[in-house]
This record gives sequence, C-alpha cells and structure tokens, in this order.
Amino acid sequence: MPFYSDDIIEEVRSRNDIVDVIGQYVHLQKKGSSHFGLCPFHNEKSPSFSVSQSKQMYYCFGCGAGGNVIRFLMDYENLSFPEAVQELAARVGMELPQQEMSAEARRQADRKSQLLEINREAARYFYSLLHSDRGKRAMDYFAGRQLSPETMQKFGLGYSDQYSDDLYKYLRHKGYSDDILKDSGVVTIDEVRGGRDKFWNRAMFPILDANSKVIAFGGRVMGEGEPKYLNSPETPIFNKSRNLYGLYLAKKTKRKQFILCEGYMDVIALHQAGFDNAVASLGTALTAGHAGLIKRYTDAVYLSYDSDGAGTKAALRAIPILRDAGITCKIINMKPYKDPDEFIKNLGAEEYEKRIEHAENSFLFSIRIMEGDYDITDPAGKTAFHTAIAKRILEFPEELERNNYIDAVATQYQIPVDSLRQLVVHLAAKEGSGITAARPANRPKPTNFGSKQLNREDGPTKSQMLLLTWIADDAAVYHDIKAYITPEDFSEGLLRQVATALFAQIEAGEPINPAKISSGFPEEEDQRQVAKMFNSPVTEDSDAGARDLSKALGETVIRIKEESLKRAREAAEPSQQIQMLRQEKDIIAALRKHDFYHR
Ligand code: UTP
Ligand code: MN
Repeated sequence: MPFYSDDIIEEVRSRNDIVDVIGQYVHLQKKGSSHFGLCPFHNEKSPSFSVSQSKQMYYCFGCGAGGNVIRFLMDYENLSFPEAVQELAARVGMELPQQEMSAEARRQADRKSQLLEINREAARYFYSLLHSDRGKRAMDYFAGRQLSPETMQKFGLGYSDQYSDDLYKYLRHKGYSDDILKDSGVVTIDEVRGGRDKFWNRAMFPILDANSKVIAFGGRVMGEGEPKYLNSPETPIFNKSRNLYGLYLAKKTKRKQFILCEGYMDVIALHQAGFDNAVASLGTALTAGHAGLIKRYTDAVYLSYDSDGAGTKAALRAIPILRDAGITCKIINMKPYKDPDEFIKNLGAEEYEKRIEHAENSFLFSIRIMEGDYDITDPAGKTAFHTAIAKRILEFPEELERNNYIDAVATQYQIPVDSLRQLVVHLAAKEGSGITAARPANRPKPTNFGSKQLNREDGPTKSQMLLLTWIADDAAVYHDIKAYITPEDFSEGLLRQVATALFAQIEAGEPINPAKISSGFPEEEDQRQVAKMFNSPVTEDSDAGARDLSKALGETVIRIKEESLKRAREAAEPSQQIQMLRQEKDIIAALRKHDFYHR
C-alpha cells in the first residue's frame, strides 16, 4: 500500500490531467470523445491506445494496458507507486507532506515496492561483481558462451561470489530488515545461522517482468554441478507461471510473432542473433497464465523448444494451451542441435531464419509425433493411426478447417482423401456431435464442441462491463437503472467492487471519477481490468437513435438481473428454489415493460 494518504494521492492525480501527461510521451489525436495514439506498451501500426479526458483513464484495445495517470507513469517510466506520485506532484509544483514515519515503518507501508527495490539492488550488486576483479571467472564463462559485452549489459547479467553472506550484509547495510529480506528470494534467514545468500558462485541471470522490474534470478553453475540453474523461489513479486523471460524486450519487437523457447541462454542467444522477439517460460511447463500474457502482445508464436524427447513432449503440451488462449503456433525444427542457443552457435542466424520460414504447422507436428506410437507397416497399426488422426481432426470446430486438414494430412501420409473424410464423418456420427466433413460445405453449421471456449469474457461479465461503461459515460443512465440494479447484482469480486464505488460516487453527488476508482486497486492486473470495464465497446454510432439505445440498455439490464437472480437461486436451499423461480419470472416480466433511457 502506498504510504501517502488517499486524499493526497487523489489530489496529485486530479491535478495532473491525463491527456496532458500522456501527451508528453505519446502523440495523441482527438477522435470522438477520446484521444487516440500508438500504444507505447506494445508494437502497433494503427492506434488502438485511447485516453479519455472525462474518465481520466487510458486503455489500449490492442494489448489491454490500462489505468489512470499514476499507472501510466509507473509503467512507462518503470517507477514504483510512490515514485510516480512524487514525480506527478513535482510536475504540478505540489508539495508532498513530509513522512513522519520511520524508515522502517515506511518500508512496511509498501512491501512489494520494497521487494522490487531489493531485487533491483541485488541485480546491481551482482552486475558490479561481474565487472570487478572477483568476477573474472564468470566473465570468462559468459565470454566462452560467446556473449558480447552489449548482450551482457542488455540482460543485466552478473555474478554471485563465493562468500555465503556478502549480499545479505550489503542489503542489511542498505537498511533492509530481516523481516522484508526473508521474502525477497535472494537470501534465506536462518534462526540459528542468521542471513545467508541464496546464490553463491554462480553466473547470474536477473529475471525482469514486462515492466523491466527485476523480480527474481536464475543462477547457473559455471561448469558441472547440481542444480544446473538455481532459481529464486516464488515470492510476492515472482510468480513463475505469470512471467516470461525476455518479455520486457520482446514486447517491443517489430516482428509479428514471438519465439517461445525453454531457457535463459536460448533467449539471450536469439536476441544477440537479432531475434528480438524471443521469450522463455524458463523450464517450467507453459501455463494458461503465460499464454494470456503472450496474447497481450501477439496471437502467433513459433515454438523453439528443445529438440529432444522432453522438449517435444513440452511442445505437445504447450500447443493446446496456446490454442485455448487464441494463439496459433508453428514448430521450429532445430535438428541436429538441441536448442536455439546451440543451433545459432553452429549454423548462425541466417539458417535459423530459414528454419522459421519452414516451421511446421502445430497440428501436422503433433500428427507426425503421434505416428511414432504406431506400427505403420502393420495394417492394424495403420488403421489405428488413421483413426487417431480422424479423431484429432474432429477437434476443429470449423468445417472449413477440418476439410483443409483432411486434405493436408491425406497428402502427407498418402491416405486416400475420401476414405479419411469418411472416417471423420463416421466418428462424428458415433460421437453424436453433429459434425460434418463433407463437401460442398452447404450443410447445416456444426455446433460448437470439443476444444474449450476461448478465454474471452463470458456473457454476464460482458453485460456488467457494458453497464459500467454506460454509467461512467452518462450518470443519467444510473438514475434510469438504480431502481432495478444494485451492486449485489454484479459478480462477486472486482466487478462488484467497482460498481459499488461508482454508484457511491453518484449517490454522494460527486462527479463520476473512474480514475479515482482505479486508484483503489493497486495491483496492475486489477487496474487493467478496471480500465477495461470503463471501456466496453459501446456503439457511439450517432445513427443509433434514442430508441435503439433504450432497447440496448433495457436488454443489458435484464440480462444482468437474470444472471444475478439465477446465481442467488442456485445458491439457495432446494426447498426455496421453486418459489424463487416464480418470483424471478415476475421481476423480469416487470422489467420488460419498463422503458429505459426515454429521452
Ligand atoms: P536446459 O537444461 O535445457 O538448459 O534447461 P539450457 O537452457 O540449455 O542451459 P545451458 O545452455 O546449459 O546453460 C532449460 C531451462 O530450464 C530451467 C532453466 O530456466 C533453463 O534455462 N532449468 C534447467 C532450471 O531452472 N534448473 C535446472 O537445473 C535446469
Ligand atoms: Mn542450452
């Protein structure tokens, strides 16, 4: 939590107009009620970054970055929350109150910022050790792996020396207490022996988050030894499954895709070879969290996992996770080398570029791997293989896609295309999925099935966000709906909290202030979500008459109410549910008669 009071923060925020501030960094053009520009947080050619003067918030329709002016400064200039507040206060010549708390109390007030500071200090410490006499062995190690001084600098590489508590002592000397250090991931506090460094005599790789903040480390033994890489444990600032190594660089790439690989050295070698779009999930299996993070920046990925059995398995697991996030991927073949680092060292960047061009479609890749499980020389094995292919083809929801894959696979494996198609239809009939795989494609549309829905907002969330946007744009909407909708009608969690705050502002007769509401949620992800809630795609179409608006608003209100009543009913005692269902019908019927937004 920030150590300035809410009132002070709100004053700093409101005295810094968001359009003025962001306008200093991003070229903005007024369009309708918002200003638009090229998003500074991801690479784009046409502007999807919007700044709203009335809401005092920004939101990128491309990558989902969003928040108020304080969040903008934090992300753009890599500042902590208090630092951003200080800079904005200075900008408008506002004096901030002197802190009366002790240094220690102040630190407690912002634990996460503190942990980030500690990791930043540790990175600087390792970096300077590497460049000192003591760091010679690590310097030789990196040089032996053909890293240039610029590359070492770009990735902030360092060295942790042989002493078991020098970093600990250094951090204590800087004023950090054991209580905060124990959560930093870089030292361990032992009750008997006191503070000890986590990393000794290792080549150090700082892990930075998307905002270039150091959140953890990996340390490699220089030579043989176990473990090869030692990593920071999970801490309040380091969640392994929500961060990608190299993302802070890759998010600025001009290339359309990311290259996803496994290791520290792979990312570094790729960047050094000019592939500035490389990121790694660092040896851990790819998670939906990783995929969601990637999806903020791109929807196409080249997988460059190790070419051994483990890497292939990891790739097979990653493909559906990426697909579920709406990301397509192709697989880069690095044989005969193990990983991108070794490949580039041996064959160079141009050859790697060629491998990118020839990357394999992820579906054909998985079929090819699957082939290894069957004995194709045996008729029964062959049949089983073809059946397995047909099953996999059935997973595509679109008929066109299924047909294209039937063609591709039939050609590649020399299966008569008609028999493969029949096999698919036959299996579909057996599964009762209503799927067709026939041409011409004028059969009834297949229903959705199989692979999970993409992780888009579900219906209820969408309606609730739409209503919040509407109200934030025009308080009159609130007065139209308040007799019917309360914050309890919103889904538990962030949506309800935001609705509560927004409704309270209006009830208190204050001007609507989305940016202030956003301030109440210090987490970056929450602020993005809040920005999104106030930026639902409302048709600002001037042709849409009051009649249409009224209808749309009415429908949205009804949808929210229906969902909320249903949730309540499903949570109630079974004996009450029938009664509740009756009431539900009455309430909705009454709502249908009401004329919303009759202006
Ligand atoms: P690899 O064993 O493939 O190592 O592990 P690498 O990246 O090729 O490493 P070099 O080239 O020998 O230096 C891939 C990734 O898995 C994680 C690391 O993130 C590593 O980069 N890993 C591996 C660990 O975290 N700990 C280990 O002991 C080994
Ligand atoms: Mn390697």
